[in-house]
Amino acid sequence: MPEPDKELTIEMEQLAEDYKSRSPQEILEYALNRFGSDIAIAFSGSEDVVLIDMATKIKADVNVFSIDTGRLHPETYKFFEVVRDHYNINLEIFFANREKTEELVHKKGMFSFYKDGHKECCAARKVDPLKRSLSRRSAWITGQRKDQSPNTRAYIPVVEVDPVFGDGTLVKFNPLANWTSGQVWNYIRENNVPYNELHEKGYVSIGCEPCTRPVLPGQHEREGRWWWEEATKKECGLHSGNISSRD
Ligand code: ADX
Ligand code: SF4
Repeated sequence: MPEPDKELTIEMEQLAEDYKSRSPQEILEYALNRFGSDIAIAFSGSEDVVLIDMATKIKADVNVFSIDTGRLHPETYKFFEVVRDHYNINLEIFFANREKTEELVHKKGMFSFYKDGHKECCAARKVDPLKRSLSRRSAWITGQRKDQSPNTRAYIPVVEVDPVFGDGTLVKFNPLANWTSGQVWNYIRENNVPYNELHEKGYVSIGCEPCTRPVLPGQHEREGRWWWEEATKKECGLHSGNISSRD
């Protein structure tokens, strides 16, 4: 874990306080103005597409990246290309770490996560490419929301010094932190934002194909992710600070 820069931490805590009731667009505008080409949006291929819609209305040439774990749904791969064309952006795709993934699969096969938990596989397929992508940036933007997980996301601020990645000076913006799923979907409808076809098939939260399933009416969206694991552990490493900082 990096030692967070003290001055920057104080500044970001103040900023989070000042911006906690601001709209996602205002938070994005601040982020894009302050960090220019040193900031990128992390796009998972789900509802976080609203960030791309909002950001490209502020600045046409935003940096956007996605991590291809090698295990995403075909619908998600298709959606990446729909978004690339629709917003005319250069969506950068970062791939799983080849050595680590091969080593894991040679040793434990393609579905080790059902037995051993998702950590090892996520480390090779998600966290490694995320680190590579962030090594070029001073800040990043995620689509995390408080309502996505009462167990691990209830406290996320709209901006923070990244507690897990970077050298203690990497800034992480969560412009949708205080939005509800309902607000996101109203925005999608009102602005004709393209969405992943999986949402029409009962999926709410979307991750890797073997680790995501549709949820039933009334079931919480997080129940469709890593359903064989305890709710308090359902962070894949991209946002593990949500767990460690509250433990
Ligand atoms: S996860 O950690 O459980 O997988 P989740 O699916 O809720 O995360 O997504 C939260 C945010 O993490 C997304 O809005 C996005 O910013 C980032 N993220 C998750 N998966 C990816 C991915 N495959 N590529 C890029 N960013 C991702
Ligand atoms: Fe592997 Fe599942 Fe994590 Fe995807 S979500 S990287 S398949 S454990």
